[in-house]
Amino acid sequence: MSGKHLIESPAKADGAELWRIARDSKKLDLNSPYAYLLWCHDFADTSVVAKVDGQAVGFVIGYRRPSAPDTAVVWQVAVDSSQRGKGLAGALLDALFTRLVRRDVRYLETTITPDNKASIGLFSSFAERWGAALERFDLFAPGDFPDDGEQHEPEDLYRIGPLNLK
Ligand SMILES: CC(C)(COP(=O)(O)OP(=O)(O)OC[C@H]1O[C@@H](n2cnc3c(N)ncnc32)[C@H](O)[C@@H]1OP(=O)(O)O)[C@@H](O)C(=O)NCCC(=O)NCCS
Repeated sequence: MSGKHLIESPAKADGAELWRIARDSKKLDLNSPYAYLLWCHDFADTSVVAKVDGQAVGFVIGYRRPSAPDTAVVWQVAVDSSQRGKGLAGALLDALFTRLVRRDVRYLETTITPDNKASIGLFSSFAERWGAALERFDLFAPGDFPDDGEQHEPEDLYRIGPLNLK
């Protein structure tokens, strides 16, 4: 990873850029600008943003599951297309989970659509780097989503852990 990237917790001022990166990914379900602002305000401890020259170029947003605080759920991860393939998403996950494992998080969970090879590659390589097991379960089927005229892919649940600092 290039040393030019700065990885930090997002602040309110980053919310609009996170929304832009999610929109430009053309892959993520785009949430409202308000959702990204709220996330930066209320869930900064379980989220990270990467910046180059002060400009946000990637992010991970997540939360600790209230009913199982040893599990942190990665809700969305995205990197600007100009910055992909350089290990940035992996570095974002490593930074976030190094922080969270120090605070007693032991498992990462996320959902991935079966066609998302980049995301499956990202989380598989994370599990390997951390020496942790990766399990896959069915979670949300196409029929669980509202009928908005577009068929939604299934969202499979991936669970990685137990996570330990080396
Ligand atoms: C998924 C995404 C965040 C990866 O970002 P990135 O910075 O390019 O990823 P990295 O360079 O850190 O790569 C991490 C691993 O994933 C693998 N990977 C990345 N892109 C890949 C692709 N298109 N196909 C297969 N594997 C891929 C890499 O080879 C790497 O594995 P390695 O460590 O064994 O070499 C990026 O492609 C993206 O923003 N996609 C659109 C949004 C999205 O789909 N988000 C995930 C769903 S929530």
